[in-house]
Amino acid sequence: MTLREIVTLPDPILRRKTRTISRFDAELQSLVEDMIETMRAAPGVGLAAPQVGVSDRLIVVEYPEDDAQEDTPKKLFVVVNPEIKETSAETEMGIEGCLSIPGLHGEVERALAVTVKGQTRRGQPFKIKAKGWLARIFQHEIDHLNGVVFTDRATKVWKPAPEEPVLDNV
Ligand code: NI
Repeated sequence: MTLREIVTLPDPILRRKTRTISRFDAELQSLVEDMIETMRAAPGVGLAAPQVGVSDRLIVVEYPEDDAQEDTPKKLFVVVNPEIKETSAETEMGIEGCLSIPGLHGEVERALAVTVKGQTRRGQPFKIKAKGWLARIFQHEIDHLNGVVFTDRATKVWKPAPEEPVLDNV
């Protein structure tokens, strides 16, 4: 595994629409491993391939499946070609930060729940119904695959004061 450099704005790769992945080969597996390692080292709870300079439809997320339960362990999700298939009408405001936009926080309205479909790293069908922060992370990462960053959606963006709580970056 290799740590990859995290790309930051204004790198144009963060604004590009990504390619669908059709080969589940060794190259994909090493990209997956590198992205997991890079996300953990950052540290972050999600990472999209364009953030390591690869314009492919791949995300990794590591977050508890249900954070309403305090000690739920983190779970790792690797999703190839993810798509949001259903979105709850109910939305929620939340504060986001992004590894590709260091030093900025923003308040973003997101769907409270989403159904994400895609494939696993081996090409098997993948589906999850995510709620709350996990749903927010999936929405943020899938935005990255479409060249969208959180500051595009934020109603308010600011430089966090030192006393502001540190966010789980994505
Ligand atoms: Ni991000």
